[in-house]
Amino acid sequence: MSEQFDNTAGPLTTESGAPISNNNQSEAAGVGGPLLIQDQVLLEKLAHFNRERIPERVVHARGAGAYGTFTVTADVTKYTKAHFLSQVGKETETFLRFSTVADSLGGADARRDPRGWALKFYTEEGNYDLVGNNTPVFFIRDAIKFPDFIHTQKRDPYTGSQEADNVWDFWSLSPESVHQVTWLFGDRGIPASYRHMDGFGSHTYQWVNEAGEQFWVKYHFKTDQGIKNLTQDEANKLAGEDPDSHQRDLRESIERGEFPSWTVQVQIMPAAEAPSYRYNPFDLTKVWLNEDYPRITIGKLELNRNPDNIFAEVEQSIFSPAHFVPGIGPSPDKMLQGRLFAYGDAHRYRVGINADHLPVNRPHATEARNGNRDGLGYDGRHGRQKNYEPNSFGGPHETGQPLWAPVHVNGPTGEWETPAHSEDDDFVQAGKLYRLMSEDEQDRLIANLSGFLAKVTREDIVQRAIANFAKADENYGKRLAVAVAELRK
Ligand code: HEM
Repeated sequence: MSEQFDNTAGPLTTESGAPISNNNQSEAAGVGGPLLIQDQVLLEKLAHFNRERIPERVVHARGAGAYGTFTVTADVTKYTKAHFLSQVGKETETFLRFSTVADSLGGADARRDPRGWALKFYTEEGNYDLVGNNTPVFFIRDAIKFPDFIHTQKRDPYTGSQEADNVWDFWSLSPESVHQVTWLFGDRGIPASYRHMDGFGSHTYQWVNEAGEQFWVKYHFKTDQGIKNLTQDEANKLAGEDPDSHQRDLRESIERGEFPSWTVQVQIMPAAEAPSYRYNPFDLTKVWLNEDYPRITIGKLELNRNPDNIFAEVEQSIFSPAHFVPGIGPSPDKMLQGRLFAYGDAHRYRVGINADHLPVNRPHATEARNGNRDGLGYDGRHGRQKNYEPNSFGGPHETGQPLWAPVHVNGPTGEWETPAHSEDDDFVQAGKLYRLMSEDEQDRLIANLSGFLAKVTREDIVQRAIANFAKADENYGKRLAVAVAELRK
């Protein structure tokens, strides 16, 4: 080996540790001859390379993550018994993975798309995952529609591209999407970076205190960097020039010691008020108005450490809305209920049955203790411990204390629609959002929407979509109709 190399790391070896004599020429049967099957260095290297990829996430495939610290800044013990929220000043380690939704792993960051906000709190009572977005609402309100919705966002089975026809066909046939679509095509639809956007838990969750009193809660993470967005033109340019713009921005800001932070707020609704609230509080297409349930500041989230290895810590990271801790639980939101199944299932498929044991995924402030064993990739961590419960050898035992409080239900089973409350319909909050926008923002919204809608090839789909926006606000629908007609001349 030439003198120019630093040899202090010792010899290169095979996976079984044998020194490798030549990593540049494979072993041939004679000079200029074919290769030999006995060249295990070559075979092992090629075989390992073929297996480098795991399935990408079916949604949110592109992402970037960072570790951080959550600090409690207000006493919330009257609402929840969660230990990590039990004391002002208490700090909890976190890992946050941001993402875009529709693009595949090799896509670009600067897209008009919701951003994922998957936050893991490594608490002493187990990991608590809050898997939200940068938007307070969503396109649909029942989990059974999610695969259909995502199929329209992803590539068409024939053309292999995202098709405006499919996207608008689904949205126009799912009028509950109008609120989220209005949000997405407004100014916040393309954040300038992951640091310059807010995060939301989006769903309603349950908090329960020591006395067993229940509250419904919504989480908000307000960026301390300020909101910054890209226009469609800026994004189109950036996506071409620097597809990794968001990922790079996050890593570099942490490297510079500019740690991004968010002010953590919650809206809290006493459980007894839910039935009479003007909007169904478990409908993910609706927000709770701030005037009804003002946001309370409860903490600070700071990101301060980059992962060392993207594959190990970001690609293999897993987050599940079903990862709760004592004092926090699900609501009957039909989207959330479906997600309680979907994520664990995705993890077992994508990362394997022992995904929870990986360093980024396992509890950091406590340990997992149960009778689950073995399977692909099992590391033998339990040694000789018994693998059943109950047992009389000092094994872990059940607590008899559910994490969350029971929810009262009644009535027959059935494929029921999400019940409408006094002011609910599919359009009311979309209209409010439209009217809240400045005239400039309305202009950009109409331009963004019409630019995409004008690509639809079928007039009936275009008209159905416009009719939905008109139901949100007559002027909104009219302006959109004019803009689309202009583009389709
Ligand atoms: C019923 C509707 C939904 C279903 C079935 C669903 C399913 C999934 C699946 C299968 C993944 C990939 C998980 C993995 O491979 O690790 C995923 C990722 C994700 N989903 Fe959903 N999703 C739904 C709705 C939502 C909603 C409403 C939000 C936000 C409010 C959301 C936020 C996310 C985020 C942030 C990720 C990326 C997690 C990560 O960084 O690993 N999803 N979703």
